[in-house]
Amino acid sequence: MLRRLHPVQPDSFEFTPTNLEWARAQMTKYPEGRQQSAIIPVLWRAQEQEGWLSRPAIEYCADLLGMPHIRALEVATFYFMFQLQPVGSVANIQICGTTSCMICGAEDLIEICKRRIAPSPHTLSADGKFSWEEVECLGACANAPMAQIGKDYYEDLTPAKLEALIDAFSEGKVPLPGPQNGRFASEPADGLTSLQDHGGGGGDLNASAALAREFGETVKRIDGSEAPILTKWLKSTREAAAEPAREHAVAADAAEETGRRPQGLDAPKDGAADDLKLIKGVGPKLEKLLNSLGFWHFDQIASWGPDELAWVDANLEGFKGRASRDEWVAQAKILAEGGKTEFSTRAEQDHRYDEE
Ligand code: FES
Repeated sequence: MLRRLHPVQPDSFEFTPTNLEWARAQMTKYPEGRQQSAIIPVLWRAQEQEGWLSRPAIEYCADLLGMPHIRALEVATFYFMFQLQPVGSVANIQICGTTSCMICGAEDLIEICKRRIAPSPHTLSADGKFSWEEVECLGACANAPMAQIGKDYYEDLTPAKLEALIDAFSEGKVPLPGPQNGRFASEPADGLTSLQDHGGGGGDLNASAALAREFGETVKRIDGSEAPILTKWLKSTREAAAEPAREHAVAADAAEETGRRPQGLDAPKDGAADDLKLIKGVGPKLEKLLNSLGFWHFDQIASWGPDELAWVDANLEGFKGRASRDEWVAQAKILAEGGKTEFSTRAEQDHRYDEE
């Protein structure tokens, strides 16, 4: 299928202030000079805001990330998840046409889309409210046939059920997502025979459907105004996770007792730190962590004895045990004497290519 920009384009595109703030926050996830790595989430947000990616939107994203327009166009035209033509103002209905869904009736659902929306995919309905397309497996095969509408899955569909959904969306309603045949989730159609208490936190609904009902924004375009409800949800989720986190903190304190803390430095000697990333197993994050613990040089690491190594292993938050697993001390000894390891040779080469 040819993926080309739509012949009719708007004059301009701009993120809403909240979406712009979100996009800038994404950019900070990557090292300085690598902001282009955020191209997919940023393009996706633009699509979530407008429903599709116009040329001005793609170029706006490229400018935001400081990359040539052609690079962003390459990404947008390569991935099928990016819509290059206007989609329905209410929803773009994505019917899964892969094996399970096809066997269970996806072709009949597609016939409904052809009749109710437009004879061919990626085409607006006469009232502009809907468009449709066939997509590959959406991972809900146990609830086939199914469709993604907006952000949610509508499962266990029949042609009549899909028509009813289209009618409801058309009237501005947001039908409840999840199984449409009364199933709780993906249990056998004739009921559970074991583990019968599914303990669903959403009561009569499975967790995904319960959350979708709480948000009620299945087909809402993302402009940033959804943030308060998401913030509220995240807050309650974090509070629920606080207890294990506290236990983790106690465990971390205990870990600090392990071994003996090696002597650290307040700053690198002569103001020039060694590139600790030449040690296999040390990435930018770990290098920062090591620096914050006072370790800047190969010879410092080379001097760690078993007790010091045990302390470092226990205090590499998120990377525990890596120092001994990747034999940092042995590597650092070679590097401190001006030698090279197989890894450091490769890393230096990659670094050279990056700079060229
Ligand atoms: S085949 Fe349709 S969701 Fe997997």
